[in-house]
Amino acid sequence: MCGIVGYSGRRTAAKIILKGLSGLEYRGYDSAGVAICEDGAVNVYKTKGRLSALADMLEKSGMPKGSVGIGHTRWATHGEPSDRNSHPHRQGKVTLVHNGIIENYLQLREEAQANGAEFLSDTDTEAAAYVIDSLYDGDPIAAISAALPRLHGSYAFGIIFSDRTDAIYAVRRDSPLIAAKGVDECFIASDIPAVLSYTKDYYLMDTDEIAELKDGEITFYDMNGNDITEKKKLLTADFNLEAAEKGGYPHFMLKEIYEQPDTLRRLISMHTEKGAGAIFKNEIPDTSDIKRIFVVGCGSAMHAGLLGKYSIEHLCRIPVSVSIASEFRYDDPMVGEGDTVFIISQSGETADSLAALRLVKSKGAKVCAIVNVVGSSIAREADEVIYTRCGPEIAVATTKAFTAQVLIMYMLTARLAHDRKTMSDAFLDEYLSEMKKLPELVTAVISEPYVDLCKKFAVYNKPYEDYYIIGRGQDYATGCEGAMKIKEISYMHCETYAAGELKHGTISLITEGVPCMAIITDPDIAEKSVSNVKEVRARGGHVLLITSCVGEKSDICDEYIRLPETNKYLMPIVAIVPIQMYAYYTATNRGCDVDKPRNLAKSVTVE
Ligand code: BG6
Repeated sequence: MCGIVGYSGRRTAAKIILKGLSGLEYRGYDSAGVAICEDGAVNVYKTKGRLSALADMLEKSGMPKGSVGIGHTRWATHGEPSDRNSHPHRQGKVTLVHNGIIENYLQLREEAQANGAEFLSDTDTEAAAYVIDSLYDGDPIAAISAALPRLHGSYAFGIIFSDRTDAIYAVRRDSPLIAAKGVDECFIASDIPAVLSYTKDYYLMDTDEIAELKDGEITFYDMNGNDITEKKKLLTADFNLEAAEKGGYPHFMLKEIYEQPDTLRRLISMHTEKGAGAIFKNEIPDTSDIKRIFVVGCGSAMHAGLLGKYSIEHLCRIPVSVSIASEFRYDDPMVGEGDTVFIISQSGETADSLAALRLVKSKGAKVCAIVNVVGSSIAREADEVIYTRCGPEIAVATTKAFTAQVLIMYMLTARLAHDRKTMSDAFLDEYLSEMKKLPELVTAVISEPYVDLCKKFAVYNKPYEDYYIIGRGQDYATGCEGAMKIKEISYMHCETYAAGELKHGTISLITEGVPCMAIITDPDIAEKSVSNVKEVRARGGHVLLITSCVGEKSDICDEYIRLPETNKYLMPIVAIVPIQMYAYYTATNRGCDVDKPRNLAKSVTVE
């Protein structure tokens, strides 16, 4: 996902923008650039590669002195990563940076070229710069307002007009953007960590609002050029830069794994103190009209949905369908009035998930979002929001947000079971009391003995390029998330199979020494899964057994992690944490860039 930073104030804009962009590196990028206003000119510096390459370029040319500028880290969508496709882009008097995707850019380029325009890049962004410039006659707000209806798709822009080099302008639709206020200085940024070194005070930018940053002040306008500044609410970030930094850990991912007892504890205390019937009462006042549930998400968020499906269907007897957002949105889903759709998203900005939200709303369904980023697009467009409250999750591979999403699905299970009386009071009481123990159980499985096992076992798989995970029922869903972790950060091919399905194909791939993981947390079907593990062992597979209910036996496993036991329907939260840790050490053993894995972004805000 691209990152935008802009600055207007009393200090050297280039230095502040570079630091701000470094706070956005987690979003994934392949090039970077800045545009700085100096002595009435707008000077662009941009390059393919990391921010350090841009910093070197600026140092070599003599750090620009201007106090107004915009900057960008690009994650390529249109046009390969290159110097010329890097942002900022300029057309006429307009220089801009962009996060998002202009879907009608080809048509805009053709029209522009028919009018004699020349494009220096392959990007959709440059087409947007042309459109704004073609409508600019000295009034930035009017030009921007006139241009937006012609730009189809998603965007957050930082814009400079070459005859107004004392100001920057910002506008967004669907892509995130904030405007932040410091002392005699102000900022725009794609996300809060970019500005936390300077201020905690910020405004959320809404669609069809334009911000002008000039002389250290922010003025907001509507599309008609009316000053709406008075209507804007100044917010204060509830976490400091320290929270957004690594806190002493070598990687954000490890820090975030260790944060899970706290993030789980916070949610449990927020929602379960008044009993099952009060869980999410504000967000979902009445559950009686819920006849079926749809869950939509991408990546790990979708896996959280799979675990929610298992618990809700088993304990509440409500049908739950779980869909990958990019499939769901083009599937003409049979959803409408009276249906409840849960959109799960850590960032709240994933394009496919946002599109799925809009689709189901257009069909009359009610949308409840389970989101981490406060004020994100999905959070703002849903009918109801349940926040995971994990603080910033910086590592691309989600951990604490995932277990928080799963916990929210389990709390929803308790509420639905209470309202439908599908659980006995005794079972529900035990379910909730065991839920309250989850933080201490997760604390146990991130304690040294477990970490030592994960470190030790991760060494074995280093020479291998393929890894298989098997599990039944909810353990299959936990395995899907485990495979995602291993793939995302160690680049080892890893796939998960329903344990009983292995013999229908994949077992042909199990040869001497091939590393496999078996997850067994359901005592009621443990013996069935043990049989499948033996099938793997019989073919020479090297088995790591992760279980809460099967004894360590040399004839079924080479490596063994015994999980503390709790209500079986809550076990996935306990089981996934050692798997996260195991994936982490698998990746570090391979020298991988754990927090910023190749080709991946923390949030994919384009299709
Ligand atoms: C991927 C992330 O890009 O997007 C995953 O690497 C995440 O961690 C997935 O699960 C969905 O993102 P989000 O923000 O919608 O949960």
